[in-house]
Amino acid sequence: MHQNKNSAIGVFDSGIGGLTVLEQLIKLFPNEDFCYIADQGHCPYGTKTAKQIGDRVEKVSARLIEKGVKAIVIACNTASLHIDRARAITDIPVVSVIYPTCARAVSLTRNKKVAVLATQATINSGTYQRLLEKENITPVPLACGEFVDFVESHDLDDPMADKVVADKFLQLPDRTFDTLIHGCTHFSLLENSMRKCLGDKNFVACGEPTGEYLKKLLEEQQLLTTATGKGRVEIYTTGSVENANATMKWFKAEHSPVQHIDID
Ligand code: DGL
Repeated sequence: MHQNKNSAIGVFDSGIGGLTVLEQLIKLFPNEDFCYIADQGHCPYGTKTAKQIGDRVEKVSARLIEKGVKAIVIACNTASLHIDRARAITDIPVVSVIYPTCARAVSLTRNKKVAVLATQATINSGTYQRLLEKENITPVPLACGEFVDFVESHDLDDPMADKVVADKFLQLPDRTFDTLIHGCTHFSLLENSMRKCLGDKNFVACGEPTGEYLKKLLEEQQLLTTATGKGRVEIYTTGSVENANATMKWFKAEHSPVQHIDID
């Protein structure tokens, strides 16, 4: 494939959660083209084995590379754990959401206690916990896979959201943290319900810090587009287009109609 600076940026997630990252990327890079894959045919990733997740990372990345993208943003924390599987098959930059998001939380916490909400696979990996502990910050981890299922199958204004979040937060061992990491890209979509439960905290989502990191990287590698018009945004799902359209109503950025793609 002949990538160049005017090629699209590839973005993927197990589902629609990564659109929270794409939304921020479009704001930061209005002239760039984007190609987003929601691997909904294989969602959730968070309950799969490391090998299964790694295999999806490799296959979805390979498809983006085939489409000629100039960089890949893994808009999924669980998939970011297996970034090496993507890097092994390409020389283009591949970006994880974990490090920029964690660095943002580190810069915000004052009481050095940070909650990490993520999928079971991400919590089990201990990645966020280790990064925080290295900075002498106490992590308060909680696996919240239920939130992924909820976001993938409900409208965000569904009144059940408050209950799903409140019930889950009964399991929080400690609420004295001042900063919370949405360590799964689906979770910032439930932030309103979380705020009702937890009150005033710093909520850190993946989109903005990852976008800023990507900006530096594309500048350094002279890969920013030279186009001046509005970029094109293509969205694919390995699942049902109808289901994707029904659950991503909150995604307001202009894009071409969602298309199905098989990646097996
Ligand atoms: N959105 C994904 C993440 O950031 C994972 C959701 C899932 O498929 O379990 O971890």
